[in-house]
Amino acid sequence: GSHQLALTPPMGWNSWNVWGLNVDSDKVRAAADSFVKSGLADAGYAFINIDDGWEAPKRNEDGEITPNAKFPDMSALSTYVHSQGLKLGIYSSPGPQTCGGYLGSWQHEFQDAKTYAKWGIDYLKYDWCSYGNIEPRPDLIGLQKPYRMMRAALDDSGRDIVFSLCQYGMGDVFKWGKQVGGNVWRTTGDITDTWGSMSGIGFAHSEKAMGARPGGFNDPDMLVVGNLGWGPNPRPTRLTPNEQITHITLWSLLAAPLIIGCDLTKLDPFTKAVLTNHDVVEIDQDPIGKAATRRKKTGDLEVWARPLWDGSYAVGLFNRGYERAKISADWKDLDAHLGGSQPVRDLWQRRNVGSFSGGYSAMVPAHGAVLIRVGKISK
Ligand code: GLA
Repeated sequence: GSHQLALTPPMGWNSWNVWGLNVDSDKVRAAADSFVKSGLADAGYAFINIDDGWEAPKRNEDGEITPNAKFPDMSALSTYVHSQGLKLGIYSSPGPQTCGGYLGSWQHEFQDAKTYAKWGIDYLKYDWCSYGNIEPRPDLIGLQKPYRMMRAALDDSGRDIVFSLCQYGMGDVFKWGKQVGGNVWRTTGDITDTWGSMSGIGFAHSEKAMGARPGGFNDPDMLVVGNLGWGPNPRPTRLTPNEQITHITLWSLLAAPLIIGCDLTKLDPFTKAVLTNHDVVEIDQDPIGKAATRRKKTGDLEVWARPLWDGSYAVGLFNRGYERAKISADWKDLDAHLGGSQPVRDLWQRRNVGSFSGGYSAMVPAHGAVLIRVGKISK
């Protein structure tokens, strides 16, 4: 059942940030091939998720949802993705229409869940668009209703399907996403590849940290590294390299799903390196699933930390300002009882930097981040 899924944050790829509504079956296959070839699969990325744009304009005579001409055979696609050792995801919305104006699951929830199961789908991203017209009550009951319904439908489908709620953080979903049977829940509106969007979303998550736990995680939206574009013509992310380091550092500290959004056939060495750093992915995937909180803020300089399964801490030193600056984390910022000399590993440099008493300081570039692991280092 759902309680055994997503015990750590899901890792994968989704078509939206690169292809938007121009997604098709060949692009999805190419993404699966690239996962295997590039080493992303070996690094733990497993879900290949089709976003909006796959649905035919009309249901068939039995009321079943069918794919449009861009997806000639969903079962064959899932067989292919599974043969690569990967999992396949799909997208829908609880209203009559999806956000892209395609067919939603309104009044066909149980039927659609069965169809997904029949196709071999492993992950459902379930949006909100057009549901507001059906259920205009803005209260919690109204917000939760379509997700409870689809949860019941997925349970009835006979297949384990990770359930991703895409409802933009309405009604403080971080407090109840798990109660309605979600495995991940969007806590924000759509991300875009600007410093303002990415950092605005990421740094707003300290107060939401209580939402994260094995089987249920906050979703600050998909990664905006690599070649993106939300349409037919991908172009490189507008985040600078340091901003991309901040992005992945922050998402890993937040125990966020790591859902890549770029054209994987054009994966450059830098993007690949930021996505596959084993030490960093290990922070995101830590089995106790506790999200980081902000421990200190001095102007543009912030220290965030999360406890890890072995008693150590992941600590992010963030410089949100425009000038290189020195940032210090004190051991007491991590835990009032943590003292003495603690070993420190720099996770982007992938090297043990020594043992330090009282705390650790580093120079951090503008819009950049340093990620360290403090205590009990065995590597
Ligand atoms: C919404 C979601 C996006 C994407 C689109 C598809 O905007 O937030 O992530 O799924 O819908 O239309």
